[in-house]
Amino acid sequence: MRRIFILTAFSLITIFKSFAEEGMLIPSLIGAFEDDMKAMGMRLSAQDIYDVNNSSLKDAIMHFGGGCTAELVSGQGLMLTNHHCGYSQVQAHSSLENDYLKYGFWAKNKSEELKNPGLTASRIVRIEDVTASVFFGTEGLEGSAKLLKMKENTDQLIADAMTNNHFEADVKAFNYGNEFYMIVEETFLDVRLVGTPPNSIGKFGGDTDNWVWPRHTGDFSVFRIYSDVNNKPSEYSESNVPYTPLHFLPVSAKNRVPGEFTMVYGFPGTTEQHLTSGNLQYIMDIERPARIAMRDKSISVIDASMRSSDLIRIQYSSKQARIANGWKKWIGQLGGLKTVDALQIKLDREKAYNDMAATNEEWNKKYGSVIGEMNALVEKYKMADFGYVMFIEYQYVGPELFGRARTISKFLTEIGDLEKNGGLAEAKQAQIEGAKGFYKNYDEATDKQIFQLLTEEYINRLGKDNVPAILRSSSPEELANAIYSKSILTNQARFEKFMAKANSKSMAKLLKKDLGVKLWKETEETFVKTYLPGAQEFKGQMDQLLKTYVAGKLEMFPDEAQWPDANSTLRITYGKLEGSAPHDGMQYTEHTTLDGIITKNNSGNPDYELLPRMHELAKAKDYGDYAQDGELWVCFTGSNHTTGGNSGSPVIDADGNLLGLNFDRTWESTMSDYMFDSSRCRNITVDIRYVMWVMDRYAGAKHLVDEMTIVR
Ligand code: ARG
Ligand code: GLU
Repeated sequence: MRRIFILTAFSLITIFKSFAEEGMLIPSLIGAFEDDMKAMGMRLSAQDIYDVNNSSLKDAIMHFGGGCTAELVSGQGLMLTNHHCGYSQVQAHSSLENDYLKYGFWAKNKSEELKNPGLTASRIVRIEDVTASVFFGTEGLEGSAKLLKMKENTDQLIADAMTNNHFEADVKAFNYGNEFYMIVEETFLDVRLVGTPPNSIGKFGGDTDNWVWPRHTGDFSVFRIYSDVNNKPSEYSESNVPYTPLHFLPVSAKNRVPGEFTMVYGFPGTTEQHLTSGNLQYIMDIERPARIAMRDKSISVIDASMRSSDLIRIQYSSKQARIANGWKKWIGQLGGLKTVDALQIKLDREKAYNDMAATNEEWNKKYGSVIGEMNALVEKYKMADFGYVMFIEYQYVGPELFGRARTISKFLTEIGDLEKNGGLAEAKQAQIEGAKGFYKNYDEATDKQIFQLLTEEYINRLGKDNVPAILRSSSPEELANAIYSKSILTNQARFEKFMAKANSKSMAKLLKKDLGVKLWKETEETFVKTYLPGAQEFKGQMDQLLKTYVAGKLEMFPDEAQWPDANSTLRITYGKLEGSAPHDGMQYTEHTTLDGIITKNNSGNPDYELLPRMHELAKAKDYGDYAQDGELWVCFTGSNHTTGGNSGSPVIDADGNLLGLNFDRTWESTMSDYMFDSSRCRNITVDIRYVMWVMDRYAGAKHLVDEMTIVR
């Protein structure tokens, strides 16, 4: 009642007021939200969540491989993350004889756990507001002198934080440089694979279901952190022992109650809540539709090729998933932004901001023009930015001859030295070996079609006058025919033959003779000359303006909940376990069940394939003691504000117990990277009871369930 009253009372003036569900909060500041969280049902204190001097929930949250999130769930370093986060490790351990992707893998005991060179897991030791120290002594300084002093201060802070310990420290800008925080981490280097379900569970639904609710994916895998005998990080060694965490999360087997408090603790990557109306309009009207169109084309080619051959299906499956993941998210974002009329909301907010600035002379001087300047900047640089992103789509996401050209051109810069100083033969052999890895997952006809279609789209979207002459010299079809019949980039045999005899002269000639290499070079040069400088100016100047804009929000609207955009640092977001009604006449329930897996499987879509074991267990209704009211929950949704990087994040209940692992958002809610809408935006979680059921009943790995602390 009280909350509702407060919201209405202020709603006229507080257009920026965020709902409890919106925002990615800095853990060290969570005290400010304790009352609100408790009002929503939480029974923990702020210190239980984040504490520097005592163990707290934060000590169970790990940054997994620098990208995803993971959580500790036992006193022996047992750690859970998403299946799609540990996928490359599982893939690396898989072979035709040991097809862990298809059948799963479960270590029967610790000696069977598999090491993963290069994989790390980091714990946050502390987060400290160092804004004053970073700005110390910069009064009166401007421009590069100020930056230099700030850098000096930052380096000193980092050096001090890393003295007499084994930690790593970094100072990160928040709110576009209005604040700075020091993040101190402890990074573990021996992280072993303990178990993974088969793809038919961990990736159930594949691309059909990606970003979609209703969802039935068992998106988890299991790892264990090892340390030296003193519980300190250590490279892999046989003498290492399971790590003893400062805290691990008990898991909840209690019945879930719709509306109950949920909290997500993890490492969200990027959000852009402060984009101006002009920027949003550019993204919605020009940038995103073009990127989607580019990927429409490559996906249509890849999908058809994958359907035509098992070999191509395997060769292109992970490329396809990578291209399609962003593509599908963007389509959802555009749909959501249009549906809620995000542009109008932005315009209204900008008017409120300018009106507020106009009420006070000093504010008007500082903030009165910033929105206009931001929008003008977009007008000035949007074509440069567009050229930049289209180049990325064309050369880095598109046809793979460009990647080959980059590799070969790098070798071109080295070959002169090798000729002079020796080692040429070995280096050439290494080039040939390296290319083998690439061509293993390459199909010439598929790449050629992608090249032709994307070249056409690239020219059409950028305009004929804005692409290098070589792209205009003949039709995309003629270019494709000429390149794919002769270039050393597009064919393994031609490449190997060339490389076997290559010297610095023949390499240099490539730039003139090989049409594929020439085309790569000319598009790259146009990019560097025409688009890159403007795109960099755009970002640099926009960040400066954003700093002012956000400072204005903080100063002029002090009563509003403000949160800094995600920047891959540890954050907390909280909300409720709840469904949604994203379309008129349509209601999403908040959970899915095992029955739904069988129903999807019946549809015959290969993304819903199952192994026989799942049918047996489902038929027998063998739910162990993981069921609720006769159903086995698989996934549930909540109103927690998450983004990429939150994959694997624990979804935690009112008492600090693990409810499940976050792994996705619903399609209607992907717009939350730009604008959170608490009635639409839902994160998707795999229920920890389903995770335990898979371990126990499906995989026969009950010892892992027994290792965890279950709260009933
Ligand atoms: N959409 C989720 C994320 O952004 C899951 C991606 C992995 N799953 C897939 N079917 N491609 O990472
Ligand atoms: N699957 C995403 C990840 O890998 C999380 C989904 C999202 O963007 O919310 O981080």
